[in-house]
Order: sequence, then structure tokens, then C-alpha cells
Amino acid sequence: MLTYTVELSKAYRLLNHGPVILISASHNGKQNIMAAAWNMPLDFDPPRITVVIDKNTYTRELIEASGSFAISVPCVAQIDIVRKVGTSSGRDLINTDKFALYDLETFPSKQITAPLLKGCVAWLECKVIPEPHSQNTYDLFIAEVVAAYADEFVFSDGRWHFEGHDDYVPYTTWRVGRFLPRALQFKPLFSFCKSIG
Ligand SMILES: Cc1cc2nc3c(=O)[nH]c(=O)nc-3n(C[C@H](O)[C@H](O)[C@H](O)COP(=O)(O)O)c2cc1C
Repeated sequence: MLTYTVELSKAYRLLNHGPVILISASHNGKQNIMAAAWNMPLDFDPPRITVVIDKNTYTRELIEASGSFAISVPCVAQIDIVRKVGTSSGRDLINTDKFALYDLETFPSKQITAPLLKGCVAWLECKVIPEPHSQNTYDLFIAEVVAAYADEFVFSDGRWHFEGHDDYVPYTTWRVGRFLPRALQFKPLFSFCKSIG
């Protein structure tokens, strides 16, 4: 067997870190949204998840102020939105926000204040479980999921089912998204979902 030695600085790329998600937050009339690839489930009951949110992001400022955030899981058809909200900061915007600037349609959360993005395939409302050490040292946020929804077109009976609906498959990584044709980008995740389905 031939093995390729991976630089330790690239070791994280060997793990499947799940779909890229969009994290939105709001506080005192301000709202914002960013992309986040570093996320994962942490616990079943109560359902908990983790996300890594850089200190420089405006979204983090709103999350720390409000104690909550929403996750919208975008699909392949929303690649441009992922790229736009993941490469610009709401902090730089004057008299507007990313939702207005990029013409993003939202609908309200039920348990928290952050808006959810229309057109996504799943949504989770999350309340931060304060862990100052993890947040400050590793930018790691732990949160409890207090509500969750999915587009029944591709998720029902507790499972994803993308057969014949490639445009609805969640978006995996920005890098993959940039270099592969759309039809190929999501096959690994699609196959994985089918194999566990
Ligand atoms: C595909 C993709 C994945 C990203 N993943 C993360 C992530 O996991 N954590 C993070 O802090 N930033 C991540 N970013 C960068 C943020 O989305 C980016 O810094 C954004 O501009 C922050 O916006 P804000 O300042 O308006 O909150 C990612 C960007 C892209 C395009």
C-alpha cells in the first residue's frame, strides 16, 4: 500500500466536516449571516452542536450579544450565496446588511431572534451554552439545538433522500465548489447519504 504523508497543517482536510452551513444572528435590530464549514454534531439528547467562529467575524459579535444563532443548510443551488456571505463582512456595511445587499429572503425563527434563510434544505435554531475558555481559546462554540426543520422534499422520516434532486444536496466545501463541475461536486456526500440511508 502506498501512503502519502500529509502535512500536519493539512491534516484537518482528511476529515469530513459535514456541509458548509450559514450562520445567522441578530441583536438589537442588527442582523448578519456568514458561512461556516467547521461544524459538527456533538450530542443526541439534548441535541448539541459545535461551530468554530472566528473572533474577527461580525456574526460572532451578534452571537455573543444575543446568546443564540441560527443555522441554515444551503444546497448546491445556493453556492453563490455561500461565497458572497462567506467572503464579506457585515461589519463593513453602512446603512444596510448582507440580507438586503445580496437580496436574501428570510423567515423568522420560532425560539430565537436570528432570521432563517429561504431556499435552504434545513434549519436549526441554537442557543449558546457558554464555555468562555473554549470560545476564547479555540473559537469553539457549543450550542443546544432548540428547534430544527428541513425541506420535506429531501428530508423526511429522519433521513435525507436526494435521489434525482442533485441541486438540493448540501454544499460541502468552498474549494471543491470552485474547481469541480457542479454535477460532480456533491457526489461523495450524496453517496454517503445513500449508504447510511
Ligand atoms: C465555504 C466557507 C466556509 C467558511 N467556514 C468558516 C468557519 O467554519 N468559521 C469561520 O469563522 N469562518 C468561516 N468562513 C469565513 C466567514 O464566513 C467569513 O469570515 C465571513 O466574512 C464572516 O462574516 P461576518 O464578519 O459578516 O460575520 C468560511 C467562509 C467560506 C466561504
